[in-house]
Amino acid sequence: MSKLLVEKSGPLVGRIRIKGAKNSVLKLMAASILADDPCTIESVPELLDVEVMIQLLEALGLKVDYNREAEMIKVIPAETLTCEAPYEIIQKMRASFLVMGPLLAKKKIAKVSMPGGCDIGARPIDLHLKGFQALGAEVTLGHGYIEAKTETGLVGAEIYLDFPSVGATENIMMAATMAKGQTVIQNAAKEPEIVDLANFLNEMGANVRGAGTDTIRVNGVDKLNGARHQTIPDRIIAATYMVAAALTKGDITIENVVSSHVKPVTAKLKEVGAIIEDGDDFIRVRGVDALKAVDLTTLPYPGFPTDAQAQFMVLLAVSEGTSVITETVFENRFRHVAEINRMGANIKIEGHSAVIQGVKGLQGTQVKATDLRAGAALVLAGLVAEGVTEVDEIYHIDRGYPQIERDLMALGAKITRVDK
Ligand code: EPU
Repeated sequence: MSKLLVEKSGPLVGRIRIKGAKNSVLKLMAASILADDPCTIESVPELLDVEVMIQLLEALGLKVDYNREAEMIKVIPAETLTCEAPYEIIQKMRASFLVMGPLLAKKKIAKVSMPGGCDIGARPIDLHLKGFQALGAEVTLGHGYIEAKTETGLVGAEIYLDFPSVGATENIMMAATMAKGQTVIQNAAKEPEIVDLANFLNEMGANVRGAGTDTIRVNGVDKLNGARHQTIPDRIIAATYMVAAALTKGDITIENVVSSHVKPVTAKLKEVGAIIEDGDDFIRVRGVDALKAVDLTTLPYPGFPTDAQAQFMVLLAVSEGTSVITETVFENRFRHVAEINRMGANIKIEGHSAVIQGVKGLQGTQVKATDLRAGAALVLAGLVAEGVTEVDEIYHIDRGYPQIERDLMALGAKITRVDK
């Protein structure tokens, strides 16, 4: 297993170009199942999760050509599409459950292994299943698998989501593309990745309106064609490097970012004291000597992203004063607290909140990535900690950051990847 050795580095300075968003590209790949012709997806980042989605599509019978250098994937429809997604692949990555909607739409039957819990919480899928049922599918659970089927085809319906779940919105939206009549998803998630998926579906010939608002209307069509689509930039990677600039008192210009996608992060960085300049597609973040404590609450988009919570916690751990972070999206997304505390931080968990008493500095030690974003946060912590920080279990990081050390080293960080 590999690990990263992170040394205390000076201010990170330079420019960095953001690649395509993991949380978009995985859904675009799942959506390609719906098309009758080949689909081409551009700006595909080289990530473990992308490799898992390729394995899954291939297991379903599709052919996938991945040109890593060109960051492009071509998905060719299956001669015979299999409707069963096996446990071996689903258990590697929860997002693989997103093939259920497209399979149900295209084959009228889908059998997908039940995704388990994960390091950030139980993450049920009840909202996905209620959506499929509302569209007329019969859903049964047994032997660790979920089966959804319809003899006569899906029929549009009104669906209210109890919580604006990203995955449920996407799965239902894809299932509804070829349902008879209109589907209305209320209290839908509004994340930029939802809009990206809706745009791709529309390029394939679907009729999806309202993505990015809390009401999405899908008018069913008979078939979907192939399409070519460019993935949106990864707003969470951008947010991670924005925090790195403030944390190391550096000066980083982030290119190929949609600045409106990271507004809540920009706002909080300004409150902390960082200096920000932005245009439509770039953000420059400059750190200052004394960072101030701030309170923040994670929320569905356009609120502060849960996926940037751990990185921000590291920043607040070395800011002056007491900050409170409240996590409302996932019930168990504070496992990184114990690791950051091992580096000398003073953070206490009280229910769904973390109370962070800023300290003067952190010390390097051995820590482990408890999930993807927690891992990135520990790498950031290592950049300002005295001595060397050894970050273990970095396969989590590789799931969502294409070579995090390469990006940070280009900005002046001292990081070594060691393959044990
Ligand atoms: N939830 C339910 N029932 C459901 C679905 C969700 O109760 O049927 C709950 C979850 O348990 C959780 C909350 O709703 O507490 C939010 O879950 P959501 O469905 O919105 O998240 P997701 O689709 O599973 C995606 C991202 C996550 C990101 C969240 C929130 C992907 C592949 N994953 O997950 O990204 O944190 O939205 O923005 O898109 C990451 O990239 O590190 C990551 C975890």
